[in-house]
Amino acid sequence: MNKDRKLIIAGNWKMNKTVAEALDLVNGLKRELAAVKEVDIVVCPPFTALDAVSKAVLDSNIRLGAQNMSEHNVGAFTGEIAAVMLKEFSVRYVILGHSERRQYQHESDALIARKAACAHVAALKPIVCVGESLAEREGNLTEKVLETQVRGSLAGLTKEQMEETVIAYEPVWAIGTGKTATTAQAQAAHAFIRSVLAKMFDEATAKQVRIQYGGSVKPTNARELMEQPDVDGALVGGASLEVRSFTDIIKNSI
Ligand code: 13P
Repeated sequence: MNKDRKLIIAGNWKMNKTVAEALDLVNGLKRELAAVKEVDIVVCPPFTALDAVSKAVLDSNIRLGAQNMSEHNVGAFTGEIAAVMLKEFSVRYVILGHSERRQYQHESDALIARKAACAHVAALKPIVCVGESLAEREGNLTEKVLETQVRGSLAGLTKEQMEETVIAYEPVWAIGTGKTATTAQAQAAHAFIRSVLAKMFDEATAKQVRIQYGGSVKPTNARELMEQPDVDGALVGGASLEVRSFTDIIKNSI
């Protein structure tokens, strides 16, 4: 596939996989994907498996991501994990503002922006998630919601930081439901997000930013999604939990 931006396909394992299960999965991925150079491959295990998975992916083409981090660097924040702690496990990416955290932990755009700034200070690349609910789509509010989330969650970043940030467009109604956005819906949302970035920063910056699609990505729909001009990868949930399906998504996207 011929795009200026390199595809980035990440597996968000969510709250799945013990250490032993995580090692099984990542060792299988290493075997199957060793020859892939066209795609940045990222796995995002739960915190408890980062140590084991980081050792397993040393000297491989698989990069490590975390699923969340604190907006604070250190201190009395029980249960939180700081950027510098992730760095100890060679973590390169961190998912921020996933819709499940927006919904269950009430994360706001302002909080996500503080986390994104904190990630950049630690040289972690944030994967900032945005996406509308079904009611918002049906109420014709998709663009309004996306613009608010993009502006709010990326507020205060410099152009250089923006270029090192990945955006994941994940329509909430497509997550774990088996309902994928049509390629036209995905392309329209991605192009709209890029137009907002051009207004916030400039055209050149907007062109650099990679925008992933997430929501029921499977081996069978990966290629047509990746063929869209503004779709630069995928953030995969359920189908990233098995060697076969995650491998096939990546191979079918090249
Ligand atoms: P599914 O691929 O299971 O729909 O999950 C998408 C997602 O939330 C990735 O972050």
